[in-house]
Amino acid sequence: MEHYVLLLVLTLLALLAWPATSRSATLQLHAHLTHVDSGRTQGELLGRMVARSRARAAKLCPSGPGGAVTVPAVSSSGVIGSTEYLIHLGIGTPRPQHVALEVDTGSNVIWTQCTPCFKCFDQRFPKFNTSASDTVHGVACSNQLCQGLQRSGRACFLGGCAYRLVYGDKSVSMSQLAKDSFTFQQGKVVPDLAFGCGQYTTGNFSSNESGIAGFARGPLSLPGQLRVGSFSYCFTSIFESRSSPVFLGAPDDDLTAHATGPVLSTPFVRVPDSDVYYYLSLKGITVGKVRLPVPESAFTLKTDGSGGTIIDSGTAITSFPRAVFRILREAFVSQVALPHIPYDDDGGPGELQCFQTDSVPDASKVAVPKLILHLEGGADWELPRENYMAKHPNLDDQLCVVIDSAGDDLPTIIGNFQQQNMHIVYDLAGNKLLIVPAQCHNM
Ligand SMILES: *[C@@H]1O[C@H](CO)[C@@H](O)[C@H](O)[C@H]1NC(C)=O
Ligand SMILES: *[C@@H]1O[C@H](CO)[C@@H](O)[C@H](O)[C@H]1NC(C)=O
Ligand SMILES: *[C@@H]1O[C@H](CO)[C@@H](O)[C@H](O)[C@H]1NC(C)=O
Repeated sequence: MEHYVLLLVLTLLALLAWPATSRSATLQLHAHLTHVDSGRTQGELLGRMVARSRARAAKLCPSGPGGAVTVPAVSSSGVIGSTEYLIHLGIGTPRPQHVALEVDTGSNVIWTQCTPCFKCFDQRFPKFNTSASDTVHGVACSNQLCQGLQRSGRACFLGGCAYRLVYGDKSVSMSQLAKDSFTFQQGKVVPDLAFGCGQYTTGNFSSNESGIAGFARGPLSLPGQLRVGSFSYCFTSIFESRSSPVFLGAPDDDLTAHATGPVLSTPFVRVPDSDVYYYLSLKGITVGKVRLPVPESAFTLKTDGSGGTIIDSGTAITSFPRAVFRILREAFVSQVALPHIPYDDDGGPGELQCFQTDSVPDASKVAVPKLILHLEGGADWELPRENYMAKHPNLDDQLCVVIDSAGDDLPTIIGNFQQQNMHIVYDLAGNKLLIVPAQCHNM
């Protein structure tokens, strides 16, 4: 309730402050992708990883031109659990103002912090200044983009459209829905993209970011507004500071040209009335020589909307329902020839299974079982070792399986740690996901 009152006040202020008309202009453009390294302690990291599973419970599922737009990416030296990937682009004219947005396929709205701000997290570079853009204007309540916001997350005030987003980790962003020109790589300018001009933001955000770019299925997401038939990203290793592209629209190159392994294709599962997540059909898991004794139903979406399997860019670590996680953990414990760290069996989130490596000279040489996700359509996705085994974030003498557990009704979420050095192509027009092993920094 309090939120709504504040929202209305913010909207009023925004409406008074902004021009209703827009002028257009051309700009140079600038954009790249990084992942965030928060450098927190392990406990915090695990908490954050889990909290950052925005896809899990994003409450809000909130007409642009077509054509491919490229947004490259850079990464700073990483720590497990702080793996959020940021795209950098410009908003506004005549001078595009820099914004850095977390790529989140689990939510639908694009937003960045704006000035004046009533409650914002600290960001390292200036917030978007509406007074410094000639082209920014508010979105009318009657506009279909406003109607694209979920009913519970929008409010109308003096004809303007206010939004309120509440994410799975209880982060909140709200204020007015605005439109302005976005400047991408290669000087490509797209006018009139709608975004939330956040003037009230709470939650855990890094000072390297200024907001979130929703990449989900809805009309307000970045791919939704650009109306592209496909988009893709290729996340570099979280442990390296290298850049890689995000493509909005078909990549120019032949996908297989960069492939370092077999190209896999698996259909999306269409869920009626859902315009958020990208559901896949996971059939089973193999650890080493063993196909885990888990029924397919453990991964399927139930009629009440629980369960299912989602691929997500905004979640760090893959998580399985608790029952599946326990079986997977046992399979690793029985196949890794190292003493395992005992676990309390509450199967709560943030519990990585780790092994003691002080008895071996080089933990990176220890044999580990392979891990294969069996997806519909014969897509047997064998993960490279570095996409599921890593040294403990804080303890040098532990090697951990970077996979988490979730509540039994929660979906299986394939997170970005497992997607490193894979070109992940969301072929929306073809209703399928392509997984192309690649050295992302070479693309
Ligand atoms: C922000 O980025 C810089 C440079 O890429 C990096 O050194 C720093 O650790 C990052 N800070 C956070 C909070 O992620
Ligand atoms: C915003 O831009 C206006 C116009 O350029 C400028 O006068 C004002 O100082 C800027 N505000 C901030 C907080 O930078
Ligand atoms: C921020 O993260 C911490 C743990 O990392 C968590 O306890 C807290 O609830 C989070 N706060 C919000 C608002 O998400």
